[in-house]
Amino acid sequence: MTYLSACGRRGRFVILRQAQDDIRQAQDDTGGDSCKGDGVKSRAEKYEELEAKRAESAIPAGPEALARQHARGKRSARERVEALVDEDSFVEFDRFVIHRANAFGLDEKEFLGDGVITGRATIDGRQVFLFSQDFSVLGGSLGEAFAEKICKVMDLAIRTGSPMIGINDSGGARIQEGVVSLGGYAEIFWRNVAASGVVPQISLIAGPCAGGAVYSPAITDFIIMTEKISQMFITGPEIIKTVTGEEVTFEELGGALTHATRSGVAHLVAEDEENLFEVTRDLFSFLPQNNSEAPPEYACDDDPHRMVAQLDELVPDSPNKPYDMREVIEGIVDYGDFLEIQPLFAQNIICGFGRINGRAVGIVGNQPNVLAGVLDTRSSVKAARFVRFCDAFNIPLITFVDVPGFLPGTDQEYGGIILQGAKLLYAFAEATVPKITVITRKAYGGAYDVMASKHIRADVNLAWPTAEIAVMGAESAVKTIFRREIAAAPDKEAKTAELIGEYNERFAHPYIAAARGYVDDVIEARKTRSAIATALEMLRDKRGETPQRKHGNIPL
Ligand code: HXC
Repeated sequence: MTYLSACGRRGRFVILRQAQDDIRQAQDDTGGDSCKGDGVKSRAEKYEELEAKRAESAIPAGPEALARQHARGKRSARERVEALVDEDSFVEFDRFVIHRANAFGLDEKEFLGDGVITGRATIDGRQVFLFSQDFSVLGGSLGEAFAEKICKVMDLAIRTGSPMIGINDSGGARIQEGVVSLGGYAEIFWRNVAASGVVPQISLIAGPCAGGAVYSPAITDFIIMTEKISQMFITGPEIIKTVTGEEVTFEELGGALTHATRSGVAHLVAEDEENLFEVTRDLFSFLPQNNSEAPPEYACDDDPHRMVAQLDELVPDSPNKPYDMREVIEGIVDYGDFLEIQPLFAQNIICGFGRINGRAVGIVGNQPNVLAGVLDTRSSVKAARFVRFCDAFNIPLITFVDVPGFLPGTDQEYGGIILQGAKLLYAFAEATVPKITVITRKAYGGAYDVMASKHIRADVNLAWPTAEIAVMGAESAVKTIFRREIAAAPDKEAKTAELIGEYNERFAHPYIAAARGYVDDVIEARKTRSAIATALEMLRDKRGETPQRKHGNIPL
């Protein structure tokens, strides 16, 4: 068929239409394959090709490798994403990306997606960006293309102000790709830092993670490990044995319980994969999209002014008797729902999220049940990081104080209690979110100052009638300032008891602090939820002021 050239726009249009109709007719005549034999695929074939490639990318290492992953009690990278996010909300990017390496036989292996799934989805209708590493592809190891995929979604998360969630199941830098994979990790680390305090970053650990696969999570805000199937270490047992001769199992070295109890690396531990995604969604519900938004508010029919009668009975008469600060926290938050962070680490301090009248709050509380609630190196660092997270993401802070001071001793001094304790002081002082403090019993010494006291700019400070605000407890105080008098007394015990009584009378109450306005009010314990709800309402539009500077220099 021929087409005459025609002059003018209209003529050209008619001829073009005619040509298109002819092509369509020809395609219909040949079943849509107008160009068979000339190497060009038909449209139908091209659609089939896309479908085939998609199917291949769904199981990139093949069904056997997927079966091995399942046999380890683990879901595939894709199944994990589906389990985490809202149904049908996941939009995948870069499923056809492949590596460009050729050393050590990699040129003969090609995996669509290069071992990581990346994209955008929603959780409870809120946008998140995510990646999920595929252990069945080269042990989930990270090469150049793999890193580029993760960087792309991280950039989008920062640009759109959306949280970033990473599911990690990886042997770290891909050895065959050498320094290129190290460069890839550094690009990710750089973005982890750039995103820090801008969008929440959550790391899920769902397999053996080593090298860069633990350092990137370490920079993120929360690490959630899964019992039995996940481990984290900078290098595994084999290399440890070679270098130091030490023999240790995967679990002992870097299992979920090790990191939940000994190192504090794991903020939360899930029983299994099912639970991993539940825990993640629960945590997510307390977090805002980014640093310029507030966390989502939920409808609440738990009366914010509910009296919590049992709290009036909680604090024992004897200052040496412990009680459980968790009962205070669970008593005052909506429905008693409290998500504790690092619950098995440095248990002398409690950190976690709850809601008051549907609004998320971060809660810090000394725990009299463990080491009398003393501040030591580990508890100070634990709480400091939590306080800084809440401050970065507009989550008001509620602090419950029952603290006998800092733990003395060589262990603590050599462990840097001076710097670690200062971290917590720095964090509370720096925080500009609404800060509400309730002193339930002891607030002694430097720890009184540190635990969100009025002097470091808490907004509302309350005390229970059982509060004791002093430089130290009666016994230590009396032995320090009346050493000579006690030594000279004929009955030392009676003299000590008399002086302790005098000291308690004078200092073991909240009224000196209240007389100076260091606490705004002394309230019955049962009224605590109501008082906090009122204070939060008052502080809803609080504006934090920080002087212009590049950044502060927190003690490390
Ligand atoms: C390439 C890797 C790999 C890696 C594992 N594989 N790690 N391939 N690069 N880093 C491959 C294995 O060869 C194997 O391939 C498959 O993944 C599964 O690994 P296995 O060892 O069979 O599995 P398992 O016994 O479960 O042990 C998992 C593991 C172990 C604990 C992760 O593989 C391991 O120790 N890997 C090395 C970890 C490490 O030292 N990484 C640090 C990299 S340096 P086949 O074909 O046999 O199935 C780094 C620095 C970054 O990351 C920068 C930090 C600041």
